[in-house]
Amino acid sequence: MTFALACASHTPVMYDRTLADGGTCDAVRVSFEKMRDFVEDFDPEVIIQFGPDHFNGFNYSLMPSFCLASGAESVGDWSLPRMKLPVPEEFSLKLLDHLRSAEFDIAQSYSMMLDHGFVQMWACMFEDIDRYPLLPIFINSAAPPLPKYKRVRLLGQAVGEFAKASGKRVLFAASGGLSHDPPMLGSGLPPAIPASACLVCWWKQPKIRSCAKRAWLSLGAKCMRGGARSSH
Ligand SMILES: [Fe+2]
Repeated sequence: MTFALACASHTPVMYDRTLADGGTCDAVRVSFEKMRDFVEDFDPEVIIQFGPDHFNGFNYSLMPSFCLASGAESVGDWSLPRMKLPVPEEFSLKLLDHLRSAEFDIAQSYSMMLDHGFVQMWACMFEDIDRYPLLPIFINSAAPPLPKYKRVRLLGQAVGEFAKASGKRVLFAASGGLSHDPPMLGSGLPPAIPASACLVCWWKQPKIRSCAKRAWLSLGAKCMRGGARSSH
């Protein structure tokens, strides 16, 4: 049994090289290269990733506290590839059984939609986002009713116990930001995503796409200048 941990920030403004000086951009790039080397040296048999911090892949048409993926797809936001991801189904089903035995009635999805909050860190490291088997676990941290911290901690403990018993090299991963305050319905960020919206359909509309990009990039830029909290 061997575990490792990889955590990294994500943000659409990471792709805009006009917002920061060259030294800052280089430092970010070098950091991701170091993380890439770390992950390649560890050579995980599976990555268990917790996330995201967005009202995106899940919305109010169905908002579980926790959901385990047995299959998943990248939604392709922010120029990231839209594709099926290599979710290890059998491993996922065993984890599902383990969590149910540990008294977690966790939801399950064979088609979990993952936005940049999950996949951007892999793109920054490897360019491709399907280098390693990836087992995503959704934790609702973006829209009330939020799960209590105690339940989140106990879920992590149960997942860790399963990973330990599996004997596999498991890389745990997460991505977010300490200053994050992601948009929600009624947050005032144009345009609000309808409660039952399909993110992919929503994002495909050119007007919405350009409006959202302008709003989020402008907030990101303001944040970098110290005038606002990160709000994508
Ligand atoms: Fe985020």
